[in-house]
Amino acid sequence: MTSPLEALGMIALRRLDPEAAHGMALKALQMGLGPKSGPYTSPRLATTLAGLSLTNPVGLAAGFDKNATALAPLARCGFGFVEVGAATPRPQPGNPKPRLFRLTEDRAAINRFGFNNDGMEAIAARIARRPKGGILGLNLGAAFGGGVAILVPGSLQNLQAVGWTHVGELVPTVDGCLGGGVGGPVDEGRLG
Ligand SMILES: Cc1cc2nc3c(=O)[nH]c(=O)nc-3n(C[C@H](O)[C@H](O)[C@H](O)COP(=O)(O)O)c2cc1C
Repeated sequence: MTSPLEALGMIALRRLDPEAAHGMALKALQMGLGPKSGPYTSPRLATTLAGLSLTNPVGLAAGFDKNATALAPLARCGFGFVEVGAATPRPQPGNPKPRLFRLTEDRAAINRFGFNNDGMEAIAARIARRPKGGILGLNLGAAFGGGVAILVPGSLQNLQAVGWTHVGELVPTVDGCLGGGVGGPVDEGRLG
């Protein structure tokens, strides 16, 4: 059940520009204002997915913590896994704003961020410093003007530099058609 404080917080966030609200939600987490339930360990929820043992099947999708800046607070939220990114080989600003839109009636959102992120090197360094435990996924996005075939080798080098073992799953985003020509759909023949 939602507490009165959470309900008030949601009303306040919904009055803000959606991208600003997204940023504030991350800030709130970093300030220790997020849930602290820890992993749900019921045997009924334990799930194996692609060889990974998850405490429960509910994970955080890519796009919320694009830059891996809230790994410690997210680890306390009770997710079965957390996927960060999308990370591209180099930092990139993404598409011009506005680029995140609420569909209030549908309780949904549309985004065309265009893989704005701090770049693989910074993200990999944060991943290396994350608290131990839990399953972390890393979403790899197509670089501006490039596709996954270009992205993967550069990103893998950066990951190798900080140690592979920190990441439980790697998810290349093959179709990053988020508008403005940033990370457009990737031609099948270019997947290396
Ligand atoms: C603001 C926002 C940013 C997102 N960024 C990414 C991203 O960088 N990479 C990616 O693969 N998916 C991204 N997604 C898609 C989500 O990971 C997820 O697939 C999508 O929100 C659908 O989730 P649902 O099936 O739980 O509704 C983003 C979604 C949102 C709303």
